[in-house]
Amino acid sequence: MSNLFSIERYREAAGWLLERTSIRPEVAVILGSSMGSVADRMTGQEAFDYSDIPGFLLATNPSHAGQLIFGRLGGKEAVIMSGRFHFYEGYSYPELSVPVRVLSLLGVKTLIVTNAAGGVNLDYQVGDIMVMSDHINLTGASPMTGPNIGELGPRFFDVTHLYNPKLRKLAHETAALMDPPLKLQEGAYYFCTGPHFETPAEIRAIRILGGDAVGMSTVTETLTAAHTGIEVLGFSLITNMAAGVLDQPLSDEEVGLVARASAGRLGALIEGVIARKD
Ligand code: HPA
Repeated sequence: MSNLFSIERYREAAGWLLERTSIRPEVAVILGSSMGSVADRMTGQEAFDYSDIPGFLLATNPSHAGQLIFGRLGGKEAVIMSGRFHFYEGYSYPELSVPVRVLSLLGVKTLIVTNAAGGVNLDYQVGDIMVMSDHINLTGASPMTGPNIGELGPRFFDVTHLYNPKLRKLAHETAALMDPPLKLQEGAYYFCTGPHFETPAEIRAIRILGGDAVGMSTVTETLTAAHTGIEVLGFSLITNMAAGVLDQPLSDEEVGLVARASAGRLGALIEGVIARKD
């Protein structure tokens, strides 16, 4: 595999895709686990398996499909990543920069990320959708670790408004216009590496630190987007209350069940945001 820190790797993957589709996506959507049905809303689909794309990563999680799907969503040319990559699968932080770097070379300007998350904020309920206002990544690691690729972005970069305020506002407006109207939560996503769920004591600490939801994905993607100048909107689907909130164990089955049941609402919201976005 070509060098992770060479732009040629990303150009090869993007070039391979652009030769095989005439769609030029301005928007990309990354789907969280068990949210694959969101892709059903896309018309004129042209799908590529990750395993066929030179230089891409391979999905190992069975609840993630592992396809890049091009088409039209909300009236715009778009690409959906159905299946994402996580630190807990064994990828390094720099490796986790690969997908969004390829998206940027496809011409993507806006990235919408979704994830399943545990509710840390006690005002949240299972099934709520939280607009990500910010994230907390105290693992101390960055997908931009290593030599900087100047063509993609600067060595040091600002993440004050990583989760774009205009897009967040548009998300709330779009949700309010849905039938029935959807009331969204808004809060900070706290990143934990997994694959274990957190301990109750960790969740109490996360709450004190300002986390509203907790999950094992997304931040490497959104940091990569920020580095390369892609605007970001993030949605966390609260699939369970975080560890220790309720007196019951957490399970992947529960997460999958709620995610599948809520994917319809989330998909309608994403489609609406894309349609109303300029
Ligand atoms: N913790 C971490 N990741 C998650 C959770 C959780 O409670 N729910 C869904 N993904």
